Amino acid sequence: MTLRTSITPVRWEDDGLRILDQRRLPRDEYYLACRRPDAVAEAIRTLAVRGAPLIGITAAYGMALAAREAESRERLLACAELLAATRPTAVNLFWALDRQRAVVAAHPDAAPGALAPLLLEEARAIHAEDAAACLAMAAAGAALCPAGARVLTHCNTGALATGGIGTALGVIRAARAAGRLGMVWVDETRPLLQGARLTAWEFARDDIPHRLLCDNMAAALMAAGEVDLVMVGADRITRAGDFANKIGTYGLAVLAHAHQIPFYVAAPWSTVDLALADGRAIPVESRGEEEVTHCGHQLLAPAGTRAWNPAFDVTPAALVTGFITERGVVKAPVG
Ligand code: MRU
Repeated sequence: MTLRTSITPVRWEDDGLRILDQRRLPRDEYYLACRRPDAVAEAIRTLAVRGAPLIGITAAYGMALAAREAESRERLLACAELLAATRPTAVNLFWALDRQRAVVAAHPDAAPGALAPLLLEEARAIHAEDAAACLAMAAAGAALCPAGARVLTHCNTGALATGGIGTALGVIRAARAAGRLGMVWVDETRPLLQGARLTAWEFARDDIPHRLLCDNMAAALMAAGEVDLVMVGADRITRAGDFANKIGTYGLAVLAHAHQIPFYVAAPWSTVDLALADGRAIPVESRGEEEVTHCGHQLLAPAGTRAWNPAFDVTPAALVTGFITERGVVKAPVG
């Protein structure tokens, strides 16, 4: 089974990093040219680039850019802090930056300029490893889909979120290639609509049958017997197996449990945070209220309306049927 994607969300070029600006999808396919680490940090913070594995990959390339301009090792390491401060929940970001810090530490006498090619090589390795992990997850997970499966997914976990074919979407692509997929139900994923804007775009491009639903329709859809399986990604998985993912995931897990529908999480091992015992310790990103009160520039609520906007929620391990990783399918606890 050959699985590939023509979607390239980040691409290294001699003069810097090109980032497909996901804020503009599905309208335009526009690549930002990021030549400096602060531009990379801004792209991550504003969700021009997003998805846990891809955030880590992008930050790793950001360190290669930082080494080109830093006047000292201290300034280079300060760039790692700048990149780390962009988004708190996806542990892949911190994992990738730790790998880059280890490259710096392994060459204690090297000036930043001399470290630049080494940091680029490490970023490329992180990128390639993630692409390979996606393929391994796809191979491990496809058989979990019953023939003709109608799979519900949330947010975007595809080529736009990883270095390869995706995590949950990679498994879905593999199920499709194996002739096992019926269709995919795509949650729109309020407030930033990663499902409607990004997942539906990937599926349309790759001819994967799908239908969009508003997040609040999932209960009725399950009650109607239209969902065989739920498959989502993760931003951070704790030792206990409690995990953070896009806000709305916890609700889906509760609904799947109530309707006795299998609920799977696909994520590379770089998303597992063995330092955290359980979900209570996961830092959940809180984002601007305008993401809820507005859709783009359009105000949806009366001016001055306050809103609550956690970007993620935490799902208890007890609601997870299995974790699909590049090491195979595992049950909680994962560490
Ligand atoms: O805020 P986002 O768009 O970065 O959130 C992304 C998600 O929640 C994904 O499900 C998760 O990062 C896994 S991506 C393979």
